[in-house]
Amino acid sequence: MRPIDLRSDTVTQPSPEMRAAMASAEVGDDVLERDPTLVRLEERVANLLGMEAALWVPSGCMGNLIALMLHLKRGDRFLAPAQAHVLGSELGTGAWLAGGMPEALAWEGGPGRPTPAQVTKAAGAPGPYYTLRTALLCLENTHNFAGGTVTPLAEHRALVAAAKVAKLAVHLDGARLWHAAAALDLPPSALAEGVDTVQVCLSKGLGAPMGSLLCGSNPAMAEARRLRKMLGGGVRQGGVMGAAGLVALDYLPGLAEDHAKARRLAEGLRDLGLAAPMPETNILLVPVAAVSSALTAMEAAGVRALPVGAAIRFIAHRDVAMADIEEALRRLEPLAPMLRGA
Ligand SMILES: Cc1ncc(COP(=O)(O)O)c(C=O)c1O
Repeated sequence: MRPIDLRSDTVTQPSPEMRAAMASAEVGDDVLERDPTLVRLEERVANLLGMEAALWVPSGCMGNLIALMLHLKRGDRFLAPAQAHVLGSELGTGAWLAGGMPEALAWEGGPGRPTPAQVTKAAGAPGPYYTLRTALLCLENTHNFAGGTVTPLAEHRALVAAAKVAKLAVHLDGARLWHAAAALDLPPSALAEGVDTVQVCLSKGLGAPMGSLLCGSNPAMAEARRLRKMLGGGVRQGGVMGAAGLVALDYLPGLAEDHAKARRLAEGLRDLGLAAPMPETNILLVPVAAVSSALTAMEAAGVRALPVGAAIRFIAHRDVAMADIEEALRRLEPLAPMLRGA
């Protein structure tokens, strides 16, 4: 039985056209000078996000880490929504390598997001010389572990405004900013408005085997290039990956279909009596009775997913068709009583 893999949108495979583009990519040495295909990709993404410049990095984690290293001095506090990827899923590099003191903000503004008042309060007023300094607000749109939730434009603007009044820099972890933009039917640049840096991924639901872009001002990206090299992320003929990234961007209009697949999955699971929320994008978190045994039974039934706390996370993506979602629901039906804990 062919497993239906809903563990992550990172399981998407490069398409034949992507592989062909990679094979014929025009390349140069991106450490010595610049790789022409990476330059094309960087310019295209900077334009899409309305930022001055962009820098290709191998992974989203490296993009976020470089941003934190740019914005923080050792011992500076940085704020991020609870369960943000930069807080819990990047091996503590925000503290370990960027020297930051992380502070999680509860989701008082909605799933995955704080309110502007929380930002103001957490930033605090400048105190005596010996007090901790808060330097950065990290946002995450969509918020992965909240279930792919979207921060709407007005809230994004209000959060950025509160950070600016408190003299904080703003970094946006936009690993799935594309998904937020598709859900709101807005250009991605609208959701990056006002931020100092933003990181976007090409390896989440778009088929690229690797690659993220960190965007910001020209001077910030010149410094980011030094940090990328320091972290071992300076690549030579990176255009092979850049070409994959350019094709990945052509797949952005398909994201709305992935969101529809996630909604169909939620509807079907509700019909089976599960408490599935209606997803805002491609991520669906479904609370189940016993996560670990549920996942084992699902694996045996040919449906793959991952645990997130007391829930199972399903992610729809371009390598599962709507027919696969229907098939997954058929495979899950006999397990429904067990998943419900009945
Ligand atoms: C919100 C978010 N940020 C950053 C990352 C890190 O991306 P990468 O796996 O490319 O390092 C992920 C990965 O899933 C993510 O979901």
